[in-house]
Amino acid sequence: MTLLAVDALQTFYGKSHVLRDVSFTVPAGEITVLLGRNGAGKTTTLRSIMGLTPPRGGAVRFKDRDITGHAPHEIFHLGIGYVPEGRQIFPHLEVGENLRLAERRVDGDSSWTRERIFTYFPVLQERWRQRGRSLSGGEQQMLAIARALAGNPELLMLDEPSQGLAPRLVRELESLMIRLKAGGVTILLVEQNARMALGVCDQVLVLGKGAVVFAGPTAEFRRREAELKGRYLSV
Ligand SMILES: Nc1ncnc2c1ncn2[C@@H]1O[C@H](COP(=O)(O)OP(=O)(O)OP(=O)(O)O)[C@@H](O)[C@H]1O
Ligand SMILES: [Mg+2]
Repeated sequence: MTLLAVDALQTFYGKSHVLRDVSFTVPAGEITVLLGRNGAGKTTTLRSIMGLTPPRGGAVRFKDRDITGHAPHEIFHLGIGYVPEGRQIFPHLEVGENLRLAERRVDGDSSWTRERIFTYFPVLQERWRQRGRSLSGGEQQMLAIARALAGNPELLMLDEPSQGLAPRLVRELESLMIRLKAGGVTILLVEQNARMALGVCDQVLVLGKGAVVFAGPTAEFRRREAELKGRYLSV
């Protein structure tokens, strides 16, 4: 089943035409990774989906519903979680307050209760009363992800979560992605760190200068890896 479908997106910053006819689908229950060099348009793609930089053309469909042009808070309420580049937690608020602000209640057993969040992020329970800014970079990244989960997303979009993390934390992030998928969350992951992404993803998308230049299963990407990396990715 297709959870998210992006069709012929055209996104601009002023007169600058950044996304040109971007189309792809994100299957439910899988991890899809979006790769591309600096400035390829990865962040703009997530911002276009989330309604933060609304596209001027094309459509975004989530669970067969047209969400193009909807406000970001409406899109959040429909079940898309977004972890922006550079984390952007509230530094002056405590860990618990950061999470409470992001809660969106849903019915059912799969809901991200505080207890369930603690089983995935035990460190946040230990740091519950500490301010966001006092956490380490890795802990802030975990808080940013936990905050998105508190909104009970069906689709979780993460923008370069491995950026700035030590290799050990990148490995923790990998196993977290796999656990989240097993826990029923569909993931759209933006990465420059192809190595980490390829270890966990089912589908690969490659963006080159605002256009999709590859879309397919991870195994197919692997077969063409040398060529695709040379042309479209940083090594
Ligand atoms: N707010 C903005 N105003 C004008 N141009 C922008 C803005 N944000 C991004 N751009 C331009 O849009 C293009 C795509 O940028 P985007 O941030 O989406 O790339 P990216 O793939 O996320 O890159 P990175 O890997 O560096 O995060 C780039 O040419 C960038 O300079
Ligand atoms: Mg970016």
